[in-house]
Amino acid sequence: MFDQLNALPSDPLLGLITLFREDNNPHKVDLGVGVYKDETGHTAIMTAIQKAAKIHLESEDSKTYLAPVGVAGFVDGIKKLVLGDGSKALSDGRVAGLQTPGGCGALRIGAELLGRIKEDLTVWVSNPTWANHIPLINSTGLKIKTYPYFNPETASVDFEAMDAQLAELGPRDVVLLHGCCHNPTGADLTFEQWQRVTDRAVKQGFLPFVDIAYQGLGDGLEEDVKGVRHLSENVEEMLIATSCSKNFGLYRERTGTLLVQNKTATQASAIQTHVQDAARANYSMPPAYGGFLVDRVLSDSQLKAEWQAELAAMATRVKSLRNGLVEHIQKQGIEEDFSFITRQKGMFSFLGINKDQVLELRNKYGIYMADSSRINVAGLNTHCLEYVASSLKAVL
Ligand SMILES: Cc1ncc(COP(=O)(O)O)c(C=O)c1O
Repeated sequence: MFDQLNALPSDPLLGLITLFREDNNPHKVDLGVGVYKDETGHTAIMTAIQKAAKIHLESEDSKTYLAPVGVAGFVDGIKKLVLGDGSKALSDGRVAGLQTPGGCGALRIGAELLGRIKEDLTVWVSNPTWANHIPLINSTGLKIKTYPYFNPETASVDFEAMDAQLAELGPRDVVLLHGCCHNPTGADLTFEQWQRVTDRAVKQGFLPFVDIAYQGLGDGLEEDVKGVRHLSENVEEMLIATSCSKNFGLYRERTGTLLVQNKTATQASAIQTHVQDAARANYSMPPAYGGFLVDRVLSDSQLKAEWQAELAAMATRVKSLRNGLVEHIQKQGIEEDFSFITRQKGMFSFLGINKDQVLELRNKYGIYMADSSRINVAGLNTHCLEYVASSLKAVL
C-alpha cells in the first residue's frame, strides 16, 4: 500500500538547516530559520524559564492527564497578556480558550472550529504570509484567498490596496491578521491602520483571526498588542492564536493557546466545548510542560519581571542589529536604499534581492536566507555585519 506514496520534496527552510550545517565556510551566517539567537548564535533557555523549570521539577508530583483545556492558569495568563487586565471581553466571560501544541496547534484548532460553521467560509491571508498558514488552514477544507499586503517597492504595507479588498468582504469571510512582527516581511500595520481594519470588520461583518507569535519582540509587550486589543474592544467575535515559542523561547515544548471571543458568555461556553472536542479528535490534550512553566513565570511577580527584562533585551538586540546592518550597508556605499530594515519590526525582513543573488550569497559567501530573501535579523551578530554588508554589495 505504501508504495503508492512517493517522497515529498523537502521543506525549503528546513533544507537550509542541513545545507548550512554542511557548509565549511568559516564566515558562514545563518539567517534562515526563524529562531531567536544571541550574539554567539545560541538559542538559550531564558533565565526565568530555567528557574520556573527548577521549581516545577521539585513540585510536580503526578503525570496524570490534564483537563482538556490544558493548564488552566496558563490559558488565563495568556488571555490577560494578550487582551490586558482591563479587557471587557474577559471580565464578561466571553473568551473561550485552550492550551494548544504551539501556535501551529492553535491555528489548526481555530481552522477546525471554522470548519464546523455551516456557512461556506473563505479565509483571507496576507500576500505574502507565513508559509505554514496555508497548509494549516487548507487541510481543514476551508477556502483560502489572499489580500494585498506588502508593496516591495516601498518595503511597507500597501494599506490602501489591503483596505480596498477588505471593503469587498462580508460575514462569510475570515481575515487572518498578524498581531505584530509580520512574518515574513517585518512590515506591520500602524495603530491607525488597525483602527481602520477594525472599522472594516465592524462594517463588513468579517471575522478577524489574529495570529500573534511574537508579542514582545517588536516594540514591547503592551505596544505589540495595541492593535489586537483595539479589535477585541470593538468587534463582537474574533479568534486569536498565540505562541510561546519565541517570546518564552519554548519552541520544542509546543506551547500556545487558541482564544475565541464571543458575543456572550453562554456562547463562549458552547464554543469551549467545540474547541476541546476538536482537540480531542486530534491529540486529545496538549503537552503540559510548557504551559506549567509559563504559568509559573506569569504568576510570580519576580519571575515575570525577569522574563520581561530578558524579552525586552532580546527585542533591543534585534533593533540594534537592524540599525547596525543598515549602517554597514551604507558604509559599503551600496546605492540601493535598505533603510526600510530599521523601520520593520520583529525578527524578519525581506532584503528584496532576487533569487540569483540569494543563491550567490549562499553558495559563494555562506550567507543563508530563504529564497524569497527573507532574513532572520536575530541570526546576525555584531561581528558578521560588515561581512554580510560587503557580500551583499558584491552580489548586487
Ligand atoms: C507567524 C507565525 N505564526 C505562528 C507560528 C507558530 O509557531 P509555533 O507552532 O512554533 O508556536 C510561527 C512560527 O514560526 C509564526 O512565524
